[in-house]
Amino acid sequence: MQQLNVNEQFPQDWIRMFTHLANLFFEQSKIGTETVDEATINIRFFEQFEEKSPSISAQLQWNGQRHTAQFAEDALETDEKELLRQKKRMYSHVLLEVLEQATGMVQEWGILTGIRPTKLYHMYRQEGKSVEEALALLRNRHRVSARKSDLIAQIADVQLNALPDLYSLKQEVSIYIGIPFCPTKCAYCTFPAYAIHRKNGRVENFLDGLHEEMRVIGDWLKEHDIRITTIYFGGGTPTSIEADEMDALYQTMVDSFPHMEQVREVTVEAGRPDTITIPKLEVLKKWGIDRISVNPQSYTDETLKAIGRHHSVQETIDKYWLSREQGMRNINMDLIIGLPNEGLAEFEHSLAETEKMQPESLTIHTLSFKRASEMTRNKDKYQVADRKTVGQMMKRGEEWAKDNGYIPYYLYRQKNILGNLENVGYSKPGEESLYNILIMEEAQTIIGLGCGASSKFMDPATGKLTQFHNPKEPAAYILGFEDAIDRKIAYLDGLFPSAESIK
Ligand SMILES: C[S@@+](CC[C@H](N)C(=O)[O-])C[C@H]1O[C@@H](n2cnc3c(N)ncnc32)[C@H](O)[C@@H]1O
Ligand code: SF4
Repeated sequence: MQQLNVNEQFPQDWIRMFTHLANLFFEQSKIGTETVDEATINIRFFEQFEEKSPSISAQLQWNGQRHTAQFAEDALETDEKELLRQKKRMYSHVLLEVLEQATGMVQEWGILTGIRPTKLYHMYRQEGKSVEEALALLRNRHRVSARKSDLIAQIADVQLNALPDLYSLKQEVSIYIGIPFCPTKCAYCTFPAYAIHRKNGRVENFLDGLHEEMRVIGDWLKEHDIRITTIYFGGGTPTSIEADEMDALYQTMVDSFPHMEQVREVTVEAGRPDTITIPKLEVLKKWGIDRISVNPQSYTDETLKAIGRHHSVQETIDKYWLSREQGMRNINMDLIIGLPNEGLAEFEHSLAETEKMQPESLTIHTLSFKRASEMTRNKDKYQVADRKTVGQMMKRGEEWAKDNGYIPYYLYRQKNILGNLENVGYSKPGEESLYNILIMEEAQTIIGLGCGASSKFMDPATGKLTQFHNPKEPAAYILGFEDAIDRKIAYLDGLFPSAESIK
């Protein structure tokens, strides 16, 4: 535990922010107002105002060394609340700088927390800032490295190429459908994913609820003449149910949702290779669905065993080619950097195997220790690569993607992610998943149906977002889905006027 001592009492949200930044440098840190021991880091902040422009400086003392940083800006807003927010950001800025000096570590994402880097960049561009101005803000205001800032700008360009109307899709919605079952639960996962066992009618009762949600929301969309941009079946593993159950779901989708012929993309995240069968692929084909994922995570059998994924590497490869033969035109694959006992060599091997298949897209995740996962609960049992190695793997992934004709098209970061790195989605040009872009950039309302599905309602006029979560557990869902439907309709009624009232 690294103790940091600051020279005044700060509000709780400031302390949380300081702790979060300090945790980027130390395994665990605690902010207080006392020097606890010799190893305590002492930090003093100073605040100055010149003609209403704030200037913040920090002085850090540790191990007999002193480091200082200063940051000044024009006051951006006259509003008290906004000024406070600006000051908070400026304090983060100087704190990060002195910690970087003291530890010799560089944080490529600077002080960015809680906001998607690409979303911030799009926001600046929508405000009318030039590419150069937006990049300068990322670098100077948020301390993002030049390399990451350029990556963000590149991704934003690709997104606008794939969805030229990205900024004006607020009048449409996308649909997420969550199927909460998997063959087994993976050790790192906290998604709504329950080992499927066909007892007590749990799966059937869940599916009854889901059909009902699809029908009611579909009716509402028809009544309000609202178009759907994309539909995404995720989970869990949406191919963990039987082929005839999948068939019935797609029937309800086509019967209930408006203007299906204009939906730009329907994806089924098959995911687990051990759920993919010829009858299921035939059902997908029957409904014109040819975008799926076949997720290896790793190409090392021992790793798959260690994370509780009960399929072999060979099965991933076989199911990939089977899906191809059965007409799947757009296949995504997910890899994770930093899985237990994996280093650069294992990751190189995963890339070499992926190279033989050339899927249309590849998402490279970095392992994140999610609070409720088995891996976090038993952290000592899992040996993972150090910060330097995961950084090298990420760089290697970038090079490999470039050499194989992939471009980065979405990026997101998570809490407790190894090396404070990120997850990056790569695709062959023109094969980007539109749904992934829309959800990452929070460009429109996403209506979540099914277990654990989260809905994000966006006010088309103001862009304001409101989140709503469906119950996560199947048993709670079965009891609560009707209420969840009512609440979602109430949100939608508040945001979109009825077709009648427009006439
Ligand atoms: C909704 S999950 C599941 C997809 C599918 N059920 C499967 O496992 O193949 C989507 C992806 O997120 C990634 N993922 C999930 N939990 C993660 C974690 N704790 N750290 C890093 N990546 C994670 C995995 O690569 C996974 O394929
Ligand atoms: S199969 Fe996918 S959703 Fe299911 S537990 Fe594993 S990572 Fe999570």
